[in-house]
Amino acid sequence: MKKQILLASLASALALTGISLHATSTTEGAVSPIRDEPILPIKPAANINLGMVELGKKLFFDPRLSKSGFISCNSCHNLSMGGSDNLPTSIGDRWQQGPINSPTVLNSSLNIAQFWDGRAADLKEQAGGPIANPMEMAFSHTLTIEVLETIPAYVREFRQVFGKNKIDIDQVTAAIAEFEKTLVTPNSRFDQWLLGKEDAITQEEKEGYALFKDSGCTACHYGEAVGGTSFQKMGLIEPYKTDNPAEGRSAVTGKDADRFNFKVPTLRNVELTYPYFHDGAAKTLAEANDIMGRLQLGKKFTPEENAKIVAFLKTLTGDQPMILMPILPPSSDKTPRPNPFGK
Ligand code: HEC
Ligand code: HEC
Repeated sequence: MKKQILLASLASALALTGISLHATSTTEGAVSPIRDEPILPIKPAANINLGMVELGKKLFFDPRLSKSGFISCNSCHNLSMGGSDNLPTSIGDRWQQGPINSPTVLNSSLNIAQFWDGRAADLKEQAGGPIANPMEMAFSHTLTIEVLETIPAYVREFRQVFGKNKIDIDQVTAAIAEFEKTLVTPNSRFDQWLLGKEDAITQEEKEGYALFKDSGCTACHYGEAVGGTSFQKMGLIEPYKTDNPAEGRSAVTGKDADRFNFKVPTLRNVELTYPYFHDGAAKTLAEANDIMGRLQLGKKFTPEENAKIVAFLKTLTGDQPMILMPILPPSSDKTPRPNPFGK
């Protein structure tokens, strides 16, 4: 009885720190799971600079960082939709069809590296990519800075946060990365179970987790993010067929052995981040699980087994970041007006 009370208070302590996440900075490692499992509970964001977070949040939502003046980070990583766009591949500048599925930004701070092929080492390095990518925001870093400098309230806020007289791209990407560090999703039902709340997940979900573990899924999907920790071959036992030309990790390392190795995606909030895989070809979780079982493990799940795994995966949906929509500083007369059709 006493033990149960202790466990319940542990779980609520986690919930509490989760809620306070966006108001204050918290200390790391306050809570540890009582179960010895390959999946670890998500810790609330720690040691964050609140000034940078607020600025980064504005930049994340600001379409003026794109050439058209219409596309923001949130266009493709919609925080109302699990930090993704729910499209097989994204839509970029002038309605261009993107080459690859947009991964969620939720919990991306837990990734070993960024992008499907890991070509950016961390969130700060990553954030410079989409702004200058002709298929995404199609802008340039120089032009981004020029635009920001025409917006007086941004000039003031950058000066306040970074204490420098000039805005540069390093400050822009650092602020965005700091905001992204807050996009963790603690307190999922599965994490509550890990922390000792026995009835946080149902019998069916427990059986789904047992199947997930015993089938070998946790060889690749483990840790806090249930993925994000390594690059693995897509189609280990049986080749994966796709029209998508992405090569995976070999595009970065140049090694043939790395061909078709992709960063193992996080399975946190996976219920929200359909469609699945780098080509966005799997429309449902059941379809993705069936392909994973066969191609990665040589295992064919019955429909009942598959449904149990789906039920388990849905317990990984955590508290979504509570975003108060930022009010963006107004443009000045010098700020370029949106030009979505390039006229
Ligand atoms: C036009 C759609 C689009 C826009 C706009 C966009 N992204 Fe992305 N983002 C993507 C796609 C697609 C990928 C995957 C690309 C790849 O792996 O090659 C990605 C990858 C990422 C990743 C890596 C996640 C992971 O698990 O590897 C992060 C983080 C990210 N974007 C943040 C941002 C930020 C910050 C911005 C704004 C500065 C932004 N994105 C703008 C589509 C977009
Ligand atoms: C050998 C490593 C490995 C094993 C084992 C493995 N996976 Fe994966 N998983 C991956 C990789 C790599 C991807 C990304 C593949 C791609 O996009 O081309 C992935 C993607 C997924 C996705 C899609 C996530 C998304 O956001 O696109 C799901 C769902 C998934 N795995 C579930 C499972 C399940 C369930 C099992 C066990 C039956 C399993 N995985 C076993 C490596 C693995």
